[in-house]
Amino acid sequence: MRLAPDSTQLLAGRERELAVLDDALARLADRGAAVVRLDGEPGIGKTTLLAQLARSAEDRGALVLAGSASEFERELPFAPIADALDGHLRALDPARLARMERAELAELAAALPSLRPYADRDGAGTRHGLHRALRALLERLAAPGGLVLVLDDLQWADPATAELVAALVRRPPQAPVLIALAHRSNQLDPRLAAELGQAVARGEAAAVALAPLSRTAAERLLPGGSSAALRRELYEESGGNPFYLQQLARVRLSAAASARPAGAAGGPAAEVPAAVAASLAAEIAPLPPDARTLLRGAAIAGDPTEAGFAADVAGLPAERLPAAVDALLAADLLRAADAPGWLRFRHPLVRRTVHATTSAGWRAAAHARAAVLLRDWGAGAPARAHHVEQSARRGDDDAVALLGEAAAEVAPRAPATAARWLEAAVRLVPDSGPGSAGRATLLPRLAGALTAAGRFSEAHAVLLGLLAELPAGDPARVETTAACALVERLLGRHDAASARLQTALAGLRPGAPAAAAEALALRLELMAHASLEADFALMRDCAAQARDDARALGDDGADAAATAALAFAVYSLGEMEAAAGLSAEAVVLVGALADERLAARLETLLYVGWAEWFMGRFSSSADRFGRGVAIARASGRTALSTELMVGQAVALGSGGRLAEAVDLADAAVEEARGTGNPQTLMWALYALCTALEPRGELSAALRAGEEAVALARQLGPSTIAAGCGWAFAAVLIEAGSGARAAEVLLERAGGERLPRCYPGHQAACFELLARAALSCGDAAAARGWGERARNAADGCGLPYADALARRAGAAVALAAGDADHAAAEARRAADALAALEAPVEAARSRLLAGRALAAAGDRDGAAAELRAAESALLSCGAERLRTEARRELRRIGRRVNRRGRGGRADSAGAEALSAREREVAGLAAGGATNRAIAAELFLSEKTVESHLASAFVKLGVDARAALAPALAAPAAG
Ligand SMILES: Nc1ncnc2c1ncn2[C@@H]1O[C@H](COP(=O)(O)OP(=O)(O)O)[C@@H](O)[C@H]1O
Ligand SMILES: [Mg+2]
Repeated sequence: MRLAPDSTQLLAGRERELAVLDDALARLADRGAAVVRLDGEPGIGKTTLLAQLARSAEDRGALVLAGSASEFERELPFAPIADALDGHLRALDPARLARMERAELAELAAALPSLRPYADRDGAGTRHGLHRALRALLERLAAPGGLVLVLDDLQWADPATAELVAALVRRPPQAPVLIALAHRSNQLDPRLAAELGQAVARGEAAAVALAPLSRTAAERLLPGGSSAALRRELYEESGGNPFYLQQLARVRLSAAASARPAGAAGGPAAEVPAAVAASLAAEIAPLPPDARTLLRGAAIAGDPTEAGFAADVAGLPAERLPAAVDALLAADLLRAADAPGWLRFRHPLVRRTVHATTSAGWRAAAHARAAVLLRDWGAGAPARAHHVEQSARRGDDDAVALLGEAAAEVAPRAPATAARWLEAAVRLVPDSGPGSAGRATLLPRLAGALTAAGRFSEAHAVLLGLLAELPAGDPARVETTAACALVERLLGRHDAASARLQTALAGLRPGAPAAAAEALALRLELMAHASLEADFALMRDCAAQARDDARALGDDGADAAATAALAFAVYSLGEMEAAAGLSAEAVVLVGALADERLAARLETLLYVGWAEWFMGRFSSSADRFGRGVAIARASGRTALSTELMVGQAVALGSGGRLAEAVDLADAAVEEARGTGNPQTLMWALYALCTALEPRGELSAALRAGEEAVALARQLGPSTIAAGCGWAFAAVLIEAGSGARAAEVLLERAGGERLPRCYPGHQAACFELLARAALSCGDAAAARGWGERARNAADGCGLPYADALARRAGAAVALAAGDADHAAAEARRAADALAALEAPVEAARSRLLAGRALAAAGDRDGAAAELRAAESALLSCGAERLRTEARRELRRIGRRVNRRGRGGRADSAGAEALSAREREVAGLAAGGATNRAIAAELFLSEKTVESHLASAFVKLGVDARAALAPALAAPAAG
């Protein structure tokens, strides 16, 4: 933390900027989160303003946590975040922390050394898992007085921090949290800069660009008594930059002016005016030798740094440290930091100047000393890697091992840093000789880290280089070829990828001992590739062959993968009976495999999950995907975790677990944006769109659908791109844009016969088209779509398709005045969908049945359907559809339950409360406010609200005053 540079000094000028900050603080009181961004050149006053903000926030009772990135430690993952949070968390009562979920604490432990004790020994976690856990932590820390998170000098943030901050900006904590960010102009991670720019454009973040001080404000910074001429000269030379001004004045007004050294070059030259650089150098030159040595040690050790560590790094004997410290404090080059014995530079520009006075050889030796000290103190690999990277020599095996270890540790959450350390390790490996073997293991890891960081072209280059090095027949060639094909796919070079795999297959020597296993590995890869390319005939051929090979080799893992892929391929080709048998077989094979085996081929769970979903086995599908997500997290093989999350979100949504579906889809979108793979992002947006629609979050659903379809257009036609059209169309219909819905769906699906939809899924699409036509009053068109739905359902024989075709027929019949037929068909659809455990679609059908029955004059029957629909929709959290059911009930003159308690909630009582709900309700019954409860239980206010709302429903009360008696009452029969 490096705040409050001159906490006693009065601010000159900056009234407007302070008003913006004050405004953001005031917004905290209305619970909202806010983001403020400060930018400007070095020395212009960013840190000073942040310190002022921190003071005002503390005066208002908010908690302020401040951290900063530093220039020479740019690669240390999450350093600014740890800087901001660790001190506070260390001081926090562990009993409070223990109230967070174990998994969240484990995620946070990866970034925050203070939480190391909570780290999962073998759980690797994911980037988005950390983002979410941090958000949850900030929400909790915000009670009771609000939280201000200050992150300074973000131009030096490591890529993982930049990504984390971008995630916070995109989706700020839902609690009174002000996030204040400062960075030098035009020197920010481009993705974070884009995210901030968008937030500012949307009005969700305030931006303060710091301009030079006015002449009047600047004059206030100069000591009284200096001549007007000098003041004018200093102002002009400094350009109104307060740091430059003070720096120039410092030297110009002191005796040191005469000591301007000749060798002032090499300072922060490019960044600051020459006169300022010279004056910085002039300040350092006349110091006693020990002080200069310590100052150099501090520049290497870190900012802030512990004085003793800086001395050791510099090689300064301990007994000479105190005098050196005193000299530096007296010269105001270093200042006391927050913790006793810690020092920080007056300004990063001072550190940079000092750093530039050191020679490369001296720096390497100092870093080497730092690395040894940290090793002796038991510091983690990443902390040591920073120094090893700067000091190790070629051929140093220990250094290579350490860098590899550090990379492994940070890879799941900070792949860019992992790549940097692996690159450093590769540089240390000799080209030939005994130590050179390390390259072969480092390069694939480097490619993996670069891929995970979204740097596909670089990963590709590394793999191509490796392929060129590997001799023919080397067993590593197959894996490298597969990895190369994967990166080519990510680069959109599909042809290159399949050609590479086919060539490798053709090149295998049939008789060779490993050839069969290698062919299998290549064919599985080709099969995966065909699936992504939606070339299902190729997929089927590869899968069938791979299945035979796997069985011949007795490889049950490959067998499961091939069988699952085969099931999906034949479903896609419309061979429903075969698909049903194969997917049942795949479920069994997958069930028999241990997690570790599946971890190596997670796509197996994607194939079987989707096959199950498309065939209407939603809960089984959700289980498959869920297992995949869990394995991906635990094993750190996160390459497919986003895709698996998308599947799980879609399957949970079909099963009516909408809140979870939205959560997961949201997380998948965030993760996909992070990795920058447009195809994955498209899928994730598709999942989000389908989950938001029944919940009634139509504008968010429309946004997601619109973006998904735009990506689908970019990526070209495919079955998945058709799915996006289908999802977007469903929302458009609900939003009252039936005509546009039909247009989008037909465009994406490739025309009236829906050639780009899976045959098994066409009935569902035709049903949508029928609904779209009816919403535009075009009954004739609707009838046509209804007939097509029927044909498609008959053609595939899936119960889900049949149910939707019936619903289409029912809607058409109702519009044509045949209410009896409509009611009967809609009811049958509803029953079939309920049996498939698709409660939302079942309820949608019951709504239609209710309308039809009402039209047929059967009010009791209608009320029964509508009530059943309402209760099911309530438990799914499908708010908008539920409102529709209630409206229909009122229309037929039926009373609607005010709280809308239906189903499970009706029979509830104090017994039904979860432990958390009871705890929250108990405190509320005792008169505590939500905020106080949040602070007491270390929860976010939002969580308190939702526990309380749920307790109200279960207890059947609607006021806090009624809580105490309800909690005391014996359970209702
Ligand atoms: N508005 C101001 N009034 C008085 N002093 C200021 C003002 N802005 C900056 N300073 C001084 O200028 C120096 C550099 O400011 P700082 O906030 O560290 O800049 P930055 O963070 O933008 O590099 C500090 O010594 C600070 O005290
Ligand atoms: Mg600063």
